[in-house]
Amino acid sequence: MKRSHALAMPALGMALLCLPLGAGAQETETDPDTGLIKASGWETVRNNCTACHSANLVTQNSGTRNHWENLIRWMQETQGLWKFEAETEETILDYLAEYYGPKEDTRRPALPRTLMPDNPYPTVADAD
Ligand code: HEC
Repeated sequence: MKRSHALAMPALGMALLCLPLGAGAQETETDPDTGLIKASGWETVRNNCTACHSANLVTQNSGTRNHWENLIRWMQETQGLWKFEAETEETILDYLAEYYGPKEDTRRPALPRTLMPDNPYPTVADAD
């Protein structure tokens, strides 16, 4: 049994080494100006998402399509972001969900307020 064990370890090592290569082969060229991944739709995102703030804000964020849609609605309601043509919005959301999707290796996002238990403590909002 010792023998098969000794054989298995290098094989596992090889498999692990190949993983990053496999992922990298999917070609992730980034735009030097914005840092956005150059893939279908990236120019639409650049044109619509870097006027008010740095693209870093976009590239450092990540989440589901729903997360991105909520962010866009929030910016539209409170930050003066314009409304998009349905097609443009699709392109933007497709791109963000695909290339800036949820990170699997980080802490899970906070639960939405509606899924949280009631706060048992008095808050400022309850004061009056
Ligand atoms: C009309 C101006 C405007 C445009 C255009 C705009 N944003 Fe924003 N965005 C803001 C403002 C203002 C903030 C808040 C900045 C801050 O907190 O410093 C913000 C914040 C963000 C954040 C950070 C949110 C957080 O939780 O901290 C992300 C991500 C983001 N925007 C993505 C986008 C994307 C994607 C687009 C394109 C669809 C976009 N923005 C276009 C105004 C804009």
